[in-house]
Amino acid sequence: MNDVRPESMARIKTLAQAEQFIAEQVAAVRAQVGDKKVLLALSGGVDSSVVAALLIKAIGRQLVCVHVNHGLMRKGESEQVIEVFGKELDANLVYVDATDRFLDLLAGVSDPERKRKIIGAEFIKVFDEESSKLEGIDFLAQGTIYPDILESIKQAEGKKAVKSHHNVGGLPEEMKMALVEPIKLLFKDEVRVVGEALGLPHAMVYRQPFPGPGLGVRCLGAITRDRLHALREADAILREEFDNAGLAGKVWQYFIAVPDVKSVGVKDESRYEGWPAIIRAVNTTDAMTATIEEIPYAVLHKITARITAEVTGINRVLYDLTPKPTGTIEWE
Ligand code: XMP
Repeated sequence: MNDVRPESMARIKTLAQAEQFIAEQVAAVRAQVGDKKVLLALSGGVDSSVVAALLIKAIGRQLVCVHVNHGLMRKGESEQVIEVFGKELDANLVYVDATDRFLDLLAGVSDPERKRKIIGAEFIKVFDEESSKLEGIDFLAQGTIYPDILESIKQAEGKKAVKSHHNVGGLPEEMKMALVEPIKLLFKDEVRVVGEALGLPHAMVYRQPFPGPGLGVRCLGAITRDRLHALREADAILREEFDNAGLAGKVWQYFIAVPDVKSVGVKDESRYEGWPAIIRAVNTTDAMTATIEEIPYAVLHKITARITAEVTGINRVLYDLTPKPTGTIEWE
């Protein structure tokens, strides 16, 4: 398949269209790989999850999924990958808990770009080590989608990026395996329809975007395990309360960032120094600019009350009202 979407290709909107796409891709993948094995870095994001489900349908356990937990996932995410792919879909899944490796390397590193580079490079190293333990793999599957192709065309034209966005699924070119990229002509909304048609859980298919370096770019400055833990717990509360308030499907991206700054507070009538949890909730179409979601005060109060009561180490909750520009969506 070539890399340009034909003008005649209809936008996939319905389950019937998605089913037809799936049937075509299942046939194409079977024809491409025959009885050979295919490797996939499965992050649990929408794109890699849809590719995994599609390939499991096409070639079953000839697909080997490797899920690297870099210790910077949100609460429950790696567990969901194991549950959905390892158990429900009976995938050939290799789960690697590399938390200590990543956090040890990141200790004391505060520069955001260095953090991104360390996470990206270590991811490749871990994935490389795991894949070299496997035998007879001829193909590498990737969750490339059409906007990725459009983005690389822009970059080839010399447009400058603000941050070195590392897609942690981006794998070493020297892996020298033929690529299987079944969704590379699809836009994100189409990937989601295909994901639903494949029977993936709604929460996985409609998961908000999550940066490759994960909570690493939200635990601001040098990451410590205690602050990372507080961030993960606070973020889980934010997500739960967005679900309860019916905001989850409405807001494009929402999360907590925790800076490496403590303020004086009071708890149980005693001095209580803690970090602030910063709420970010934005809407955008292309992530190049973004506006702020106006979260109702009642929801903000509930989130604040829960985070300060339930999360050790957090004593304040702040609400970031800055659009992009001048802020970026992430804090690092
Ligand atoms: P910014 O912060 O640049 O973010 O306004 C725009 C969108 O990109 C996501 N983002 C990343 N995604 N690797 C990724 O895969 C990264 O290093 C990275 N940094 C930011 C961010 O979450 C937002 O959706």
